[in-house]
Amino acid sequence: MKAVLLVGGKGTRLRPLTYRLPKPLIPLMGKPLLMHVIDSLPEEIDETIVPVGYMKDKIEDYLEKNPPRRKITIIEEKHPLGTGGAVKNVEDYIDGPFLVINGDTVSSLDVGSFMEFHRKKKAFASISLWEVTDPTPFGIVELEDDQRICRFQEKPTKEEAFSNLANAGVYALEYEVLDHIGDGFVSMEREVFPRILDKGMYGLTFEGYWIDCGTRDSILSAFWTLMADSVEIHDSVDGRRGRISGPAIIRKDAVIGDGAVLGPYAYLSERTVVGDNARIEKSVVFEGAKIGRECLIRDSLIDVDVEVPAKTEVISTTLSGGKSE
Ligand code: GTP
Repeated sequence: MKAVLLVGGKGTRLRPLTYRLPKPLIPLMGKPLLMHVIDSLPEEIDETIVPVGYMKDKIEDYLEKNPPRRKITIIEEKHPLGTGGAVKNVEDYIDGPFLVINGDTVSSLDVGSFMEFHRKKKAFASISLWEVTDPTPFGIVELEDDQRICRFQEKPTKEEAFSNLANAGVYALEYEVLDHIGDGFVSMEREVFPRILDKGMYGLTFEGYWIDCGTRDSILSAFWTLMADSVEIHDSVDGRRGRISGPAIIRKDAVIGDGAVLGPYAYLSERTVVGDNARIEKSVVFEGAKIGRECLIRDSLIDVDVEVPAKTEVISTTLSGGKSE
């Protein structure tokens, strides 16, 4: 069975990080988001089709140098076609029921069981669903008792929202769904799904975690979810100079200054340097970045090789390539 991996978005909400690299290549615990997704695919997926547009070369280059276990076919998408248009554009590579999966969402969904659910229900299309507390930023569905989807709503207001079951970005689709996707820019969620609702769409909820890594806060919370309560300090790091309050992960060759305070929730990648008496809380620092002495870094993401001058406060910010947002 084929899977279509959606990685073509521009990731505007993650600027300035996504000026340097496409969202699916952002490293989550040292591994790009898209590899978390590819590794979650079950054995029965024998080929993953990847339509790429934004920063195509970087994605291609990464996948060439780090080939996943199963076949990957990269197809150029010259202009963004939306989540539906991207699938239609690769229809020649699809030969039966297929899976569509967002390349920037990490979750505990068992994709094999989800495909089994789709077959058992004899669904035309199935959608994975995640229960959210605030449905307003999401597309939500209403389910009948047999898990059939009877209604959709995109980004409802609090008053309008008729459920809290959000589209979790994994779809199992029959081949004929392709006949219902027009040419050009098409949104799967807004245009195709409402159109095929009466053909038999089903939704499967799951437990565990689901994080749509579309914003800085959600990427940070993906780190904290995967870190759980671990404290890991690489043997090459002298952790005694600072104070580490977990959860915290400190990778190879990081240097910690005297009196530095790390955590709770700090992720320091390889070769990062934290100056004396600096403080890093609920933040992620990517490879080779240098945090000056007496800095305060909180709820922030510091990109590769960024140098933060001494005594700077960085709160709820992404720093990358000389830009901050
Ligand atoms: P924002 O600009 O911050 O909204 O991010 P985004 O462009 O990635 O959009 P969004 O998070 O809504 O996209 C959901 C998934 O669909 C992501 O995995 C995107 O990479 C993918 N995606 C969005 N638009 C397109 C598109 O036009 N073509 C392709 N191939 N994938 C897309």
